[in-house]
Amino acid sequence: MPARIIDGRSVAQRIQSEIKSAARDFTAQAGAAPGLGVVLVGDDPASAMYVRMKRRACERAGLRSEARILPAASSQAEVECAVRGFNADANIHGILVQLPLPDHIDEEAALNEISLPKDVDGIHPLNIGRLGMRGREPTFTPATPTGVMLLIEETGETIEGKRAVVIGRSNIVGLPVALMLANANATVTICHSRTRDLPGAVKGADIVVAAVGRAEYVKGDWLKAGAIVIDVGSNSLPDPDSEKGYRYVGDIEFESARAVAGYITKVPGGVGPMTITMLLSNTLKAARRSLNE
Ligand code: GUN
Repeated sequence: MPARIIDGRSVAQRIQSEIKSAARDFTAQAGAAPGLGVVLVGDDPASAMYVRMKRRACERAGLRSEARILPAASSQAEVECAVRGFNADANIHGILVQLPLPDHIDEEAALNEISLPKDVDGIHPLNIGRLGMRGREPTFTPATPTGVMLLIEETGETIEGKRAVVIGRSNIVGLPVALMLANANATVTICHSRTRDLPGAVKGADIVVAAVGRAEYVKGDWLKAGAIVIDVGSNSLPDPDSEKGYRYVGDIEFESARAVAGYITKVPGGVGPMTITMLLSNTLKAARRSLNE
């Protein structure tokens, strides 16, 4: 039996409609909508597109968003100043610094400026550290990894005691997702470009999260029968049959994986829609917390 599809689009829609109604309540009570401040430095087209998508999603959900778009040649001080401006703004409840930043900017120093109660991207070095420490709670968990966890939970299968393999160890996806799976009591292996016998490691996994950024890298015959397979990848491949001339594929070879897995996400329509939804959810949470202060 082919794998069941975990439909990120419908899960995201469900959560976004809950956010919309909660945002309406918040706005009525507080007299202003939950607000997200976005800092974008430079003109990387992919980053500009992500920021546009975040802005539109805020509008749809009844959140306010404000962007500080700085030129690529901005100084460290200018980037940090933009973050501090949002820290000081009572109508901004959450802050997102779009990554990657230009090479000359010290990313850690910039992220360190984000006020912890406003770190809705869960990306402040202290929050990532807390995620990895027993008995510590980050103020927020990062959007994509939180979306991955929700999609795994959507299967109704327990995570505790399962063997999980995370392929990729980036700061914004691979590492935090591995920490979150460990916090949910999975036994976690982090695999990366130097892993020997990656197919062998994947074969032992009940849960596979692929976040390597290589088109259709993980093959169906690497997988254990019945595994939960979450594809974080978003890669474009030339496709003369498509109007655009390309199509999006994940890090998993979908058709071969679907024949073996128990549950699988699609690209597009899997993790992608969850990322923005989790950002909206964290921004709403930050706004509500600010009312109780
Ligand atoms: N760039 C790509 N994904 C992300 C993300 O989740 N957060 C931030 N801040 N930048 C990104």
